[in-house]
Amino acid sequence: MARHTVADMRTAHAAGSHFAVVTAWDRPTAEFAEAAGVQFILVGDSLAQVALGHESTVRVGMSEMVHHTAAVVRSTSEALVIGDMPFLSYVDAPTAAENAARFIRDAGAGAVKLEGGVSAAPIVAALVRSGVPVIGHIGFTPQSSLNESKPRAKGRLPEAAAALLEDAIALQEAGASAIVIELVPRELAAAITSRLRIPTIGIGAGGGCTGQVQVLPDLLGLLGATAPRHAGRVANLRDEAITALTSWRESVESGLFPTEAQGISADATLIAALNDLPR
Ligand code: KIV
Repeated sequence: MARHTVADMRTAHAAGSHFAVVTAWDRPTAEFAEAAGVQFILVGDSLAQVALGHESTVRVGMSEMVHHTAAVVRSTSEALVIGDMPFLSYVDAPTAAENAARFIRDAGAGAVKLEGGVSAAPIVAALVRSGVPVIGHIGFTPQSSLNESKPRAKGRLPEAAAALLEDAIALQEAGASAIVIELVPRELAAAITSRLRIPTIGIGAGGGCTGQVQVLPDLLGLLGATAPRHAGRVANLRDEAITALTSWRESVESGLFPTEAQGISADATLIAALNDLPR
């Protein structure tokens, strides 16, 4: 079967249905997502925190993003893989084109995502003219985090809400295939969605968006860090992994691992030869 494309997001939007997007960054996370039937995988720049131990998304660059995007592409066969353009990788149209090409041509992604509204629209338009499917990202935009002390909801005041709608419309008119809306009041995200022809993908933005995206470790409880409330964690894999590894370590230390089942036996000739080995 061919890979999903951004057209499948638009089809869902036109049909009034919802779709799920999760982030992934390597073979296990990509396989989990695809095996769960998730059609759209974002290799988010949250890679910085969730896989590489940085404090902020601004710490990853193109080489890490392309490396991990290629791993996710190799590890899936049907999902649309979306490469998240990192901090300062789309400061002008030529830079954006060069870096989008690395995601699409070198890593095999089927679309890219970038942050920003009205100000990013000319870059989006240039990429779209060159044939790159682009997903926008408005509301809380983590690459602006250097200017903020912590993630803050956006669009809580009427003027800010109107500006976000303007951002969304600018991205739609620039040719964006969909728009991520992060951390805004649910009523605003629903109002924006109802005014667009293209799908929206919410994160902390309520159920009125066309799709929903979450960062995989937040959903699966994979890391020690507290997940944002909007993630609605569905598992606690970190505790399961630690319990399992603790039990394995204890069995090693007490001599119970490995058993015969985990090894290979010597045949009679080798056993005889072993007995003849010098002491
Ligand atoms: O980097 C990321 O994971 C993202 C999602 C939060 C949308 O941008």
